[in-house]
Amino acid sequence: MQLIKVEDKLSGSKEGLKIIESAIKAQKVSTLGLATGSTPETLYAEFIKSDIDTSEITTVNLDEYVGLAADDPNSYHYYMNDLLFSKKKFKESYLPDGLAKDAEAECNRYEAILNEHPVDIQILGIGTNGHIGFNEPGTSFDSLTHKVLLTESTREANKIYFEKEEDVPTHAYSMGIKSILNAKKIILLAFGKSKAEAIKATVNGPITEDCPASALQNHPDVTIIVDNEAASLL
Ligand code: GLP
Repeated sequence: MQLIKVEDKLSGSKEGLKIIESAIKAQKVSTLGLATGSTPETLYAEFIKSDIDTSEITTVNLDEYVGLAADDPNSYHYYMNDLLFSKKKFKESYLPDGLAKDAEAECNRYEAILNEHPVDIQILGIGTNGHIGFNEPGTSFDSLTHKVLLTESTREANKIYFEKEEDVPTHAYSMGIKSILNAKKIILLAFGKSKAEAIKATVNGPITEDCPASALQNHPDVTIIVDNEAASLL
């Protein structure tokens, strides 16, 4: 694991974008794996401002809430359209379908997309409990795309985006740990004090399903970009 310490979210986002840009310029990126949450927002803002040509790049996202339509403002489809896709042209973009009728078929469909478009660079955020995508503690490291029951702590952390607590979905579709680790290169971003424990467990802790992100220690090309607060327990 390579650790890059930065002053704040903006410089961390610029660092992340630099890595992505040089890989794209070296024609090493056909597929870019994208994440949601507050962490990558600044990265996407910087991406839009840049003149990086992404018109030949396919994107795949980590996850989507079950039960939310693409045009629901709380869905990850909406987030991605709003923050990136409406402002930067990509070849094609994939996310799990929150309204899919058959969960198993949807997971298989998404995993087939990932097989067809192997991820060259995967951007990740991290939950305060060490989750990546929506892979909560206890998720098997062998997991592929699956339907997840969200933990109370994750629903609590994400409720700020919803009008009422009961509006926060109980389930999501998420790429599994194994699907995420298939990416050739992984860039994990973490900013703020609330991520310090998770970053400590990810970087220094034992490799255990109790901390899903600790699986990244098994990957040959991971860069973790952290600000001083997120790095404060290292
Ligand atoms: C959600 C997403 C994750 C994200 C995490 C952290 O649960 N599914 O992909 O990394 O939240 O969110 P934030 O970046 O808002 O702290």
